[in-house]
Amino acid sequence: MPTVTYRCARVAGAGADLALLDDTERLRARRRADPASFVTAHALLRRLVGDHLCRDPREVRFARRCRTCGSDRHGKPVLADLPRPPHLSLSYDGQWALAALCEEAEIGVDIEGIAATSWDAFDRVLLADLERPALAGLDGAQLTRARAILLCRKEAILKATGHGFSVEPVEVIVSAPEDSPELREWRSPRRGPAAIRVVDLTLGLSTHVAALAVLTDAPVRAEPG
Ligand SMILES: CC(C)(COP(=O)(O)OP(=O)(O)OC[C@H]1O[C@@H](n2cnc3c(N)ncnc32)[C@H](O)[C@@H]1OP(=O)(O)O)[C@@H](O)C(=O)NCCC(=O)NCCS
Repeated sequence: MPTVTYRCARVAGAGADLALLDDTERLRARRRADPASFVTAHALLRRLVGDHLCRDPREVRFARRCRTCGSDRHGKPVLADLPRPPHLSLSYDGQWALAALCEEAEIGVDIEGIAATSWDAFDRVLLADLERPALAGLDGAQLTRARAILLCRKEAILKATGHGFSVEPVEVIVSAPEDSPELREWRSPRRGPAAIRVVDLTLGLSTHVAALAVLTDAPVRAEPG
């Protein structure tokens, strides 16, 4: 059974977090409109990996890998220098960061602020025809929460496969918000996952929801750690 360890942190961007980052991460942080969220997220990932490998988080070496173009300048975070590195995923917004690690299979995580889904065209831009009926009759906080759950599942899937938004979220059909999370249909011409499990993560936040996807056909254990 693949086991995923995940951890979340409130964005602070504190000096202790900045001290963990390497030169490349500091440069990337300085280029961000919101450096604090980047700093918190990447320090969180370093601590998670450092604890898992019993290493000083400052000594962990990351690389990036884009599945679409092969570039090492963007894409999924990967660990350099290890023969069989654990799989990683990272997500953050201006308030919260979420990082996850799994030895057995590729993973993707996503965290979404519920309020961020309140824009009018959300359903038309991000949801497929099959997904929209599940939101009928919802409004206010119920609607934004339901939208955030759907978007989280889609993004977690697209991060697990490594496609990111090079596949349109509208081409990834997920189960209704109140149903058990799963990928229902893959409509992109790009090759979809042979097997995938989706899990809604319970972070205990009233403002955010989160999801995890794992490229496996086996049941998944997700543990805060
Ligand atoms: C991945 C993506 C969906 C994340 O969107 P988001 O909601 O803005 O951001 P999140 O906070 O949830 O996740 C960001 C993290 O996802 C990870 N990530 C980036 N691209 C990824 C990919 N293709 N697959 C998996 N994870 C990815 C990175 O760790 C990134 O953090 P970082 O930039 O600080 O290193 C989006 O950024 C994206 O689609 N990027 C790639 C698009 C692409 O591949 N284009 C083709 C280029 S050739």
